[in-house]
Amino acid sequence: MGFISLKNVSYDYPGGFRAVDSVTVNIDRGENIAVLGQNGAGKTTLVKLCNRLLCPTEGDVFIGEKNTRDHTTAEISRIVGYVFQNPDDQIFHAAIEKEVGFGPKMMKLPDGQIKRQVDNALEITGLSHERKENPYNLPLARRKFITIAAVIAMNTEVIILDEPTAGQDMAGIRLLQTIIKTLLDQGKTLITISHDMEFVAENFPRLILMADKRVIEDGKPENIFWNFEALKKARLKQPYVSRICRSLDIGGRIIHLEDAVEAVMQRAYRTKT
Ligand SMILES: Nc1ncnc2c1ncn2[C@@H]1O[C@H](COP(=O)(O)OP(=O)(O)OP(=O)(O)O)[C@@H](O)[C@H]1O
Ligand SMILES: [Mg+2]
Repeated sequence: MGFISLKNVSYDYPGGFRAVDSVTVNIDRGENIAVLGQNGAGKTTLVKLCNRLLCPTEGDVFIGEKNTRDHTTAEISRIVGYVFQNPDDQIFHAAIEKEVGFGPKMMKLPDGQIKRQVDNALEITGLSHERKENPYNLPLARRKFITIAAVIAMNTEVIILDEPTAGQDMAGIRLLQTIIKTLLDQGKTLITISHDMEFVAENFPRLILMADKRVIEDGKPENIFWNFEALKKARLKQPYVSRICRSLDIGGRIIHLEDAVEAVMQRAYRTKT
């Protein structure tokens, strides 16, 4: 059993639509996981079950020893922070620092600690100089970082990022990489949903692949990105690097650019000698 443990979990939305069907997943402390799958596969529903925004229709979700059924969303959200897919579902304050300070304030932390946690979250997300701004003066992709900062400021053990890569330019992607590294160094457990296969291949040692309400694969990226049957089921493509290596018929389950360059060099050397 992992620190986060989903046991045969199903979830039906009010009205009866089943969005997650019999999912069993175990996640240990300090893991860095990406959840992949096409639109409507059930990714957001799955992660909302992990922080008790939703309660399973069948099965159980455990966070440590706590069965989420026996606890309120407020209690579980002190352990598992969730950054919403759409930042505008999460932003309610007229200044960035107020927005980021809201969670720690609700947790009734001492003022000094709130200030430290807010300053730290703004620093990590590159928002320190915009702290007095109205969140809506920033474009959507930057507003996502406000919501990331708001969750970081709560200092939860687990942080879930729902599609942080959506709409990000290269600078945004680099900033996300740095944030993920920083949080892992602090010992956090991270779960990230993304449709960006390059980002996923570069940054996550474990992938959970969802298709049609279920987890169909759970493993290393070099295995999942070379499992064509699973990719077809999930309607996902390999990262560009893997696709190029495949079309050049370069062996190995390559997912990283450096490995592709190395393989091409080796082939060139072999051809020459
Ligand atoms: N509040 C709701 N009521 C009814 N059905 C819902 C609700 N929210 C989501 N669904 C349905 O549940 C299914 C799974 O939705 P979910 O948001 O978990 O998918 P997702 O994998 O996160 O998709 P996306 O990549 O588009 O964000 C979809 O068919 C969706 O239409
Ligand atoms: Mg979603």
